[in-house]
Amino acid sequence: MRESIPTQQRYHFPEKRREFLRAFLGGLTVLWAGGMLCALKNFFFFRPPSAGLTIGAFSKYKPGQMVHDEKMRFFIMRDSRGLFVMSDACTHRSCMLRLDADQLFCPCHNARFDLYGNPVKGPAEKQLDYYYIYKNREKVLVVDPGRTVYCSFRYIE
Ligand code: FES
Repeated sequence: MRESIPTQQRYHFPEKRREFLRAFLGGLTVLWAGGMLCALKNFFFFRPPSAGLTIGAFSKYKPGQMVHDEKMRFFIMRDSRGLFVMSDACTHRSCMLRLDADQLFCPCHNARFDLYGNPVKGPAEKQLDYYYIYKNREKVLVVDPGRTVYCSFRYIE
């Protein structure tokens, strides 16, 4: 036998559903507003990707010589296979490495890397990042620090 539900209880459920829908739509509105704010931020503050950092002509770099560009935060080296550019940020905690004889030295926690960016003494364990090099329309070499490449990458002319 069916029991009759008092009027107050009968309308309790729809009110909860209305509250849920209200909260759900409120959440959707907040998400939509957040998306719109992001879109507006990108519209007004968008900066085109960096055109890269120029490093001059290939002939400027002598074979076996490593150059540390502290301003641009990378090492440039030319070996028998060509030119390559490595980050000067230690892979342990990103301190700036220094060229020390035939190694790269981290003054923060004394890690050492060989001239190809391989860690030879901890605490750093990862190899340094290599960056893409290309020649622009003005025939100048450009490094793109936003694009990492394999350590076998070499720019050759
Ligand atoms: S930051 Fe280089 S060893 Fe710690």
